[in-house]
Parts: sequence; structure tokens; C-alpha cells
Amino acid sequence: MKFYFLFCLSILFAAFFVGCESTVEDIKVAASHIDTTLIKDGHSYSNIDKIRTKHLHLELDVNFENTTIYGVARHEMINSGVDTAIFDIKNLDIKKVTLGKGKENEVEADFIIGANNEMLGQPLCVKILPTTKYINIYYQTTEKKEAIDWLTPELTAGKKHPFMYTQGEAILTRSWIPLQDAPSNRITYSADVKVPKDLMALMSAENPKVKNDLGLYHFEMKQRIPSYLIALAVGDLKFKKLGKNCGVYSEPELIKACAYEFVDLPKLIKAAEKIYGKYQWEQYDLVVLPYSFPFGGMENPRLTFANPTLLAGDRSLVSVVAHELAHSWSGNLVTNATWDDFWLNEGFTVYFEGRIMEEIYGKEVSDILALIEYQELEADIAEIGKSDFPEDTHLKLSLKGRNPDDGMTSIAYVKGAFFLKTLENKVGRELFDKFMNAYFKKYSFHTITTEGFEAFLNAQLLKPNHITFNTKEWLYKAGIPSNCYKIDSPRFKLVQKLADDFAKGKDIFKVKRKKDKITRAKYVTQEWLAFIRRLPSKMDPAQMRKLDEHLDFKGCGNAEIMTEWYVLGINSGYMDIRPPMEKFLMKVGRRKFLMPIYKNLAKTSETLAWGKKVFDKAQHNYHFVSKSSVEAVLYPNKKVETIK
Ligand code: BES
Ligand code: ZN
Repeated sequence: MKFYFLFCLSILFAAFFVGCESTVEDIKVAASHIDTTLIKDGHSYSNIDKIRTKHLHLELDVNFENTTIYGVARHEMINSGVDTAIFDIKNLDIKKVTLGKGKENEVEADFIIGANNEMLGQPLCVKILPTTKYINIYYQTTEKKEAIDWLTPELTAGKKHPFMYTQGEAILTRSWIPLQDAPSNRITYSADVKVPKDLMALMSAENPKVKNDLGLYHFEMKQRIPSYLIALAVGDLKFKKLGKNCGVYSEPELIKACAYEFVDLPKLIKAAEKIYGKYQWEQYDLVVLPYSFPFGGMENPRLTFANPTLLAGDRSLVSVVAHELAHSWSGNLVTNATWDDFWLNEGFTVYFEGRIMEEIYGKEVSDILALIEYQELEADIAEIGKSDFPEDTHLKLSLKGRNPDDGMTSIAYVKGAFFLKTLENKVGRELFDKFMNAYFKKYSFHTITTEGFEAFLNAQLLKPNHITFNTKEWLYKAGIPSNCYKIDSPRFKLVQKLADDFAKGKDIFKVKRKKDKITRAKYVTQEWLAFIRRLPSKMDPAQMRKLDEHLDFKGCGNAEIMTEWYVLGINSGYMDIRPPMEKFLMKVGRRKFLMPIYKNLAKTSETLAWGKKVFDKAQHNYHFVSKSSVEAVLYPNKKVETIK
């Protein structure tokens, strides 16, 4: 039974004091007036400045029959002496809340749930005592479980067992765990997870290497992490060791391909440690999820979640692994304090990813990667400049009242990385690396704001070395500053020239010497992207067919190349791409690929109608994150439907 007792939520219920005579209805009305401007973090209702979780213990029963998690979230709190604890929840069914440690000492507590905000969810306000330390929330997930993807066996590689995984970043953890969902609070966690006997459970914690007969798994994450990094995956999984402290999990059907593709993992870890210090999380594993996973990779600590599109068969997309590994420093050790500071996670990571790639594969390769990203940055800047939020080209964002997902553009990623590249170039690598090592050391297991970073940069690097730098312009102004580091890549120019020659009608496939023959293997993925991007934005379909005859872009299996090719094909009316593109959209749920394809399909009524037809069939294989983004493109006037 739920008791709605009456109490004051003076901090958040602006101008409302719920007196003792109030009714439950009054409280609900008051809760609906929560003043979001009072939310410090911008995206969390929690009162972490007064009371915050120190350790979270989860008891989870993962039920595939009714695609529900039955859970208890046991919070151990640091309480400064307040009588209310506020948690974030989104579409969770809260059964009861108790106070006290250990089942025998639990007493039911009064709580109220505030009005729902489409983006933030609801505040769960629990009445406590100033001395309360333990709060236990009994709950179950619902159909609107935005973080969780429940997959039927047909959507897996093996097609025999179901699969589930969660995606927490940025503010979706609250849809599967009731907690204080703000990146500025760091917690340790443990979990007891029950799953069907034939499946294995993995978390962003110390993980099992083999299945157990009972389907019961215990997890510990002893290092403090922000809530968005709590993650769970359950499926028919197998482990393959790749090095002394690293390996890969995947469905048995993919494990061989994974072992081949990620063979360089120990080298990547070694290179990263050489640059920015010891890896702090003991074990580094990957888990390759089904194709619906909305990202290429997600840096869940100790266990990066990865999309099988990384399995290109030629190890050419390993930079995504370098990226997620780099997050073990930038993001996971030193975390953005708010989503407005997202570039501190991603910009640092793209920069560091480039350094790891340079260390292992050389500067030529890392330069090509950076140039491809730079092209995306220029395109994004042009688009954002015309949008309703032109100030989104600032590194420091202002996302209050908006979805933090809006900040997930190449500004944070690439402008952020080029800021650091420019700075490195100005001060020299030696000084710069010394500074970065000091940064990671000082802020390890802490969060930081852009302003905090700026102060540290001035104090530690610029002032002592008498260096002037336009930091403020980079952080708080629009566009790309004119001193941005320029990359000159002969290899990039070469493929661009090849594209120009082809566009001018030259038969680039007719060569005198056999060794000059143009095959797909001759260039890396990013060189082909540069080639395709350089072709005219509207091509003669016969010309595109000719390229396909020689290079088979349309069916090559490399999702990066296929996406670029499909976009060009859509805009050129090249119909040969339709069958493979449909197959691709039915299979892959990674947002980075879906968005450009659907966006370009939305440009004419005929292609839009085709896109809607495919989306209709494919959407059950997309995670909420991708599904809602695509829906907004195909149905811009429709209120986004959040039930998958
Ligand atoms: N942390 C991000 C993914 C993310 C960002 C999820 C914001 C939710 C909100 C991850 O590290 C990432 O950037 N993935 C990229 C990889 C790429 C930049 C190498 C991706 O999935 O495309
Ligand atoms: Zn990232």
C-alpha cells in the first residue's frame, strides 16, 4: 500500500508549502510545480547537495517472459541532516519505499511522486529523518523503459536466446533504476542479479567469465562512478581472453570474428597507459551486443558495450575501441559535472583516441581520422548556425530545459578535440602531456566543470609558462577559432584527387601496372569516406553503378562506407542501393548510421514514403534512443511516441 504523507518539499516546490491539512491531490499539484530552474544540475531532480547516495546495492530479477526487471535499489546515503531525499525516476512502477539497513530493520516510508516531465521523468520524494542513512526502493520497470532494449531471439546472432542490455547515458538510467541521476555524484555499487539459467549477466563491474548453473550473478564496482555508467547486459554470452587484463564477450556465433577484429586490444591499452598513466579499472573488456545497440561503443567502466558494426573484418574500425578505452581516463576517471560540460568527456576522448591511434598506427592514420571528423564538424557548424540554437556551437553548452542528447554533436567531440590539438601545438607535446597527466591525477574519481578546467589550465599550464591562448574564445564563443590546428594529409589529398578524376570522367580503373589497380583494400575506411564525400553531391547513377561494379560500396559490409554511399545514392536517385539499404536499415540500429540515411530520405516525398515504410518494419529492432531520433526526422509534427 502506498501512503502519501504530507511534508514540505520547500527546496524544490517553489512557493508551495504543503500544510498538514492538505490532501493528496494538493501535494500532487504542488509536485507539478517543481521549479526546474532550481535544479542545479539541469537534468536531475535529486537534492544531492543535501543528501547523496554513497553506495547502491541492487537486487534485480531480470524477467524475459514479461520483459520486466523486478528490483530493489538499496541506497546508503550521506545525509547532511535533511528530512527529504529526492530521487529521479522515469516510467518506473514504485512499489514501496523503506528505511533501514537489513530486511529485519526496514520500516515503510512515506513518499510522493511529482508530475511527469517528458524528458526528466519524475521526482520521487521520500520522507526521511535527519539521521536516515538507508533508503530502499522496491520497484519494477514498465513498458516505457527507455534505457532497456529487450530483444527476441530473432534479433540476436544466435537466434535461439533472448537478449537485453541497458544504455544509461545521458539521463536514461532513471528508467531502470530509481536513483540520483546526476553525473556530479559518484557512487560505488554492487548487485545481485537473477537471470534465466541459460544466460549470462554482465555489468559495468567485476564480471564472470563463465555462466553459472543457477543464473545468479553477483557484481561489485568498488570504484566510484557516475550513475550513467551503471550498465547491464544479459544474453547467451561467451568470453575470449585477448590479453592479461582484457578480453571480449559476445554471443558464441561472433566470438571468433571478435577475437580477430580486436586482437590489438592489449596494444591499445599499453599505448594509452604510456600516454596518460596507469589504467585504473583493473580489467578492460568489450561486450559485442546485437546490432540494435544505438552507439558504436559506450564506455561502461571495465566493460565497453560495442556494436557489431565494428566487426568490419579488416580491423579498420578499431578507432572506436580506442575511443571507448580513452574514456577510461576522460569521462570515467574525470567526469563532466553537468551535461553542459559534455565536451570534457568527449572532446578529451577524441583527442586521446587520436593519440592512441597515432602511437600504434602512425600519424598518417590518425591525421586521416581527424580530417574526416573535421569535415563532420564543418557540416554540423553550418547546420547548427541555421538552427533554433546557434549557441550550440560553443563548447560550454546551455542545455537547461532541453534534452542532453542535443549536445551530442561534433562540437563536443571534434571542436573539443581540435581545441586540445591546437593547445598542444602551441605549447609543445611535452608540456601539454605533463599538464594532461596532472589533470587526470588531480581530478581522478571527481567531476569537473568547464570553468574548473579553465582555471586549472591557466594555473597549471598557461600562466607558469607565460603563454597566452584564446581559451575563452574556444570555450565560450561560436564556430571554429581562426588559430585552429590545420592538418595536411597527402594521403587524404590523393583519394580526393582520385574522386575528382573519376568525376571528370577519367577511367580510374584502367591502370598500366597491376600494382596500381584500385581495389577497396588499397585504402582504409576513412580514405574511402573522403573519396565518396569528394564526389559531386548528385551523381549520375550510371557512374555510381560503375564504382559499385569495381568496389561494391553498396554491399561491402563496412557500415561507415555503406552509410556514406547510401546518402549519396539517395540524393542521386541511384535505385540499385534500395535493396541493400533496406537490408541495412532492418539490421542495424546504430543512430550514427540511421540518422543521415533517414534525414536524406526525408528530403523528397517519394523517398520519405519509402523511408517510412522501411522504418515501420525496422523500428522494433531499434533501441528507444535511435527510434525516437529517427521518428523526429520522419514525423516532425508528431509528438514523439516513447513506447517501443
Ligand atoms: N559516450 C558516447 C556515447 C553516448 C554519448 C551515449 C552521449 C549517450 C549520450 C560514446 O563514447 C561515443 O562517443 N560513441 C561514439 C564513438 C565514436 C565517437 C568513436 C559512437 O557510438 O559513434
Ligand atoms: Zn565517447
